Amino acid sequence: MSQATLSCAGRDAIEHASHDELENLQLERLKWTLRHAYENVPHYKQAFDEQGVHPDDLTQLSDLKRFPFTTKQDLRNNYPYGMFAVPRERISRIHASSGTTGKPTVVGYTANDINKWADLVARSMWAAGARPGDIAHVAYGYGLFTGGLGAHYGAERLGCSVVPMSGGQTEKQVQLIQDFKPRVILVTPSYFCNILEEMQRQNVDPLQTALRIGIFGAEPWTGQLRADIEARAGIDAVDIYGLSEVMGPGVAMECVESKDGPVVWEDHFYPEIIDPDTGEVLPDGELGELVFTSLTNEGMPVIRYRTRDLTRLLPPTSRSMRRIGKITGRSDDMIIVRGVNLFPTQIEEIVLKIPELASQYQLVLTRSGHMDELEILTEVRPEFDHLTVAEREKVGQKLKHLVKTYVGVTAHVNVQTAGLVERTLTGKARRVVDKRPR
Ligand code: DLL
Repeated sequence: MSQATLSCAGRDAIEHASHDELENLQLERLKWTLRHAYENVPHYKQAFDEQGVHPDDLTQLSDLKRFPFTTKQDLRNNYPYGMFAVPRERISRIHASSGTTGKPTVVGYTANDINKWADLVARSMWAAGARPGDIAHVAYGYGLFTGGLGAHYGAERLGCSVVPMSGGQTEKQVQLIQDFKPRVILVTPSYFCNILEEMQRQNVDPLQTALRIGIFGAEPWTGQLRADIEARAGIDAVDIYGLSEVMGPGVAMECVESKDGPVVWEDHFYPEIIDPDTGEVLPDGELGELVFTSLTNEGMPVIRYRTRDLTRLLPPTSRSMRRIGKITGRSDDMIIVRGVNLFPTQIEEIVLKIPELASQYQLVLTRSGHMDELEILTEVRPEFDHLTVAEREKVGQKLKHLVKTYVGVTAHVNVQTAGLVERTLTGKARRVVDKRPR
């Protein structure tokens, strides 16, 4: 049976609810959430009061736009437990995301929250084509990061045999994939590329493993990388989205039968797209910043949380809930080179158009005088390692030309031999190294 036939129906009836049924549920849950946040979290009481709004002011979903946004800074200001809406004793798990600067962002879950999270990851895995009885290899990092434990409990809930491998130890990852024969792997797309390379190094043919489904997320990745991974590994590669402040992995999940962007599990999270500069809510289909309001979080409800992720809301297809387009990047990842705005994913798309180049790349920014300089570090695929320096330079010229044509930036391109671009050891790839003086 093909994947498509397997999974066209969701795991939960609500995934096929009518528009009215879904909106009624959202409204009821949104009213509860606003009240829960207002009555139990001093930050929200103050923020609502300052904006002159009260939970009673929400009578329809569109009234949400009158309520204040929440930012990462608000979470930091209330570090560590100030955003919790239940007594600390009712929190059964704490996660935290490190971020590049300052204090970590702390998230707390009640037992019900953990239970819901497992259900939503199970629903997500089902949408990806995973089924009870499958062996699931979890290579997201375990620990304070939500990836490992979030995926783990969801896979158990679905009824899988779970291999809690975590990130790192790439040689061992390859060994366990061969010996334990998982059908499903949950991992960041960049780290999966490392695993594929390690297979190649060990002369293991990725097409011969038991893997059939890859559930990839936690960082931006392009349709080109999907095509590349699917061809090299013989799997269906599907996109899982989430963020710790809102829950963790499983806020949205792409369905394997349509592969047309993650479906937001709208019965638990209410999405909006806003203009990042003015804060104005944009109509579905327009590109802007994704904002989430949790609908059922007990431990840490979030009201209009600004994710900084740039995408658009798309109409329902395989499920009755709206989808998000591929995340172009985070607004914080956008780099400006000599006045041109650029996301790393734009470079990924172009790199993967060139057959000789591997999917690994890094953008290095420096400043010479008043001019920003962009260097693109790339490398050839192992099968092109025999190319001479002159031949590699020719490949580099091709990339330089395409980047100038499509992005409008002149870059220095460095095409190295296979394996030289910095690898992610455990999780999210570091695509940008900004050496410009602050
Ligand atoms: O990355 C949760 C997660 C774990 C999602 C495993 C999927 C799989 P944080 O560390 O809080 O949580 O980082 C959240 O990662 O705001 C996005 O910028 C980015 N991100 C997550 N999933 C995707 C995705 C986890 N599918 C931040 N595509 C988010 C693009 C993603 N970016």
